[in-house]
Amino acid sequence: MTNSTEAETVSSLPTGTRMWPLKRYIEMHRHSLDDPKGFWAEEARKLDWYKTWDKVLDWKPPYAKWFVGGKLNASFQCIDRHVRTWRKSKVAIYWEGETGETRVCSYSTLFRAVNRIASVLKKLGVGKGDKVVLYLPMILELPYLMLACARIGAVHTVIFSGFSAQAIADRVNDIQAKVIVTADGGYRRGKIIALKEITDEALKRCPSVEKVVVVKRTGEAIPWTEGRDVWLSSMLEDAESFVTPEPVESNHPLYILYTSGTTGKPKGVVHSTGGYLVFNHSTYQWVFNIRDESVFWCTADVGWVTGHSSIVYAPLSHGAAIVLYEGAPDYPTVDRWWDIIEKYGVTIFYTSPTAIRMFMRAGKEWLEKHDLSSLELLGSVGEPINPEAWQWFYKHIGQDRCPIVDTWWQTETGGIMIAPAPGIEAIPLKPGSATLPLPGVDAAVVDASGKELPPNQTGLLIIRKPWPGMLLDIYESPQRYQESYWSHFPGLYYSGDFAMRDEDGYFWLLGRADEVLKIAGHRIGTAEIEDAVIAHPSVAEAAVASKPDEIKGEALVLFITLIEGESPSSTLKKEIIQHLRHAIGPIATPDEIYFVESLPKTRSGKIIRRVLKAVATGQSLGDLTTLEDTASVEEVKRAYERLKNASGKAKKLLEAKRA
Ligand code: PRX
Repeated sequence: MTNSTEAETVSSLPTGTRMWPLKRYIEMHRHSLDDPKGFWAEEARKLDWYKTWDKVLDWKPPYAKWFVGGKLNASFQCIDRHVRTWRKSKVAIYWEGETGETRVCSYSTLFRAVNRIASVLKKLGVGKGDKVVLYLPMILELPYLMLACARIGAVHTVIFSGFSAQAIADRVNDIQAKVIVTADGGYRRGKIIALKEITDEALKRCPSVEKVVVVKRTGEAIPWTEGRDVWLSSMLEDAESFVTPEPVESNHPLYILYTSGTTGKPKGVVHSTGGYLVFNHSTYQWVFNIRDESVFWCTADVGWVTGHSSIVYAPLSHGAAIVLYEGAPDYPTVDRWWDIIEKYGVTIFYTSPTAIRMFMRAGKEWLEKHDLSSLELLGSVGEPINPEAWQWFYKHIGQDRCPIVDTWWQTETGGIMIAPAPGIEAIPLKPGSATLPLPGVDAAVVDASGKELPPNQTGLLIIRKPWPGMLLDIYESPQRYQESYWSHFPGLYYSGDFAMRDEDGYFWLLGRADEVLKIAGHRIGTAEIEDAVIAHPSVAEAAVASKPDEIKGEALVLFITLIEGESPSSTLKKEIIQHLRHAIGPIATPDEIYFVESLPKTRSGKIIRRVLKAVATGQSLGDLTTLEDTASVEEVKRAYERLKNASGKAKKLLEAKRA
């Protein structure tokens, strides 16, 4: 870390901001904002296009279309480009199963696998624009299938394999998918997750699905529906070895990925092909400084945006070698990850603060058993990283040698927005800050009226100009798209995050400003959980709050009122937890449930969330002069006292019962 001596400014910095002596970054950032079209056109030329675009950007707020009229294919970018060169025999993916088996997939193996699967999809009647749902564990077939969809112009929707039947049904029904691909099962911490059974349960509610393609992973017996279900392996027996990539227009959707918002219904974030790939190709290079010798490991699940961009599309578009690990970080022992880093000579290691905090607790002894000298660069994503975790990551995993890139982005942004960019210039780091916006990203911190704040004041993070990775829309919900991102401050993209910019222009990301939680880095909406809890027959009303958690960042706290005749019990508590795990998945497991007599509400019936938060975290209500609710100060205070007493009483009751 260095200290700044010179003062410089960049066009997007608030006045008064000091700037480190960063020549190259400043120049590039300034140019990218002064001439975004010229800048991005130059970047786009790094990809292979069948036809060059007619127009770099068509910006009709709030819709941006990039590289309009240009034609390309994502599978061609990630595979064919490389198999034409020496990289055909280069490793594309080192795959490691939880049970210990390994598969090494070269770019030519990837080419063959993706082509053959693409021909299977075609035989099943899947064509350009059709939607294919992928509900798979972290096996090689998952990236194969994503790229096979892209090859024929089909649109994939990956559903995280930790989600339950209801979550699958909601997503499948939203896009009316005809084909879903799953596996007989997947391994997680030594147990088998019965993915096919979960899929079957979901499909009872999904009339649109005509075909279920099943990948063999565990070999366990599974339920089978004749005429609907097919094994991928049998379809591959007479697959073709080459399928011509379908050239698609730049704004043809590459995928739809669901993410949580402030209502109960997840949002289908639609990403383009051209803009998305250009943005990811460039930002990946800037942030990770990828080279042919690099071995890149992003530990996220492919089911999240990090997996889409940082496991599949960005690294493979560079012809990079990546690691894909199927299982749990601590299985069979806590040093499983360190073993993988040593085994494959990982050079870039990209993970989450929750994982780092978990390893911190387990102790550095687990690291000392392994040679981690291959590591050159570390990355963090998905949630704010606290300075202690940052320091531990730097010292014990990076052995005081490897810079850390803390990367801020979202499902909606498609790729990394704010992060150090060692691929451009060595940006001095500050533990806990994601540092500076990448070229082409015009980020700012504003107050509630949309006015930019001076340094060191907390406000809301917004993006002022469209960028190529920006979502195209929310699937079939243009109104929701406009309301979620563009209604807070007209013309400015609203991220939903609190942030602060310091006197050096560095961004400090401070968590969500809306009703979205980050539990162990997983994004989940309070409304989604509340809707699921209310579906339990004993529950009358439910409200969710969160409290800080040492490992997971945030933990779920549930406030529940019961219907007449029901009374709190530990059995009921367990039942509700099971119910939630079943309805959403294990990520929605609450840490605490309070049974209360009533929920704090305004006169108009709106839940007063700050009261819940105060009770959940055991803090006082704080300053009530800027109430965002329509409740009166007195009303809020009364609700707080009522709830605090009620939750205390319920807690005591439960404890007494347990004793
Ligand atoms: O709150 C921010 C947090 O994760 C949110 C986006 O979640 P998701 O769409 O699931 O994508 C996560 C991975 C790209 C953001 O609104 N977040 C993401 N990265 C960071 C972060 N918070 C602080 N620091 C980060 N580096």
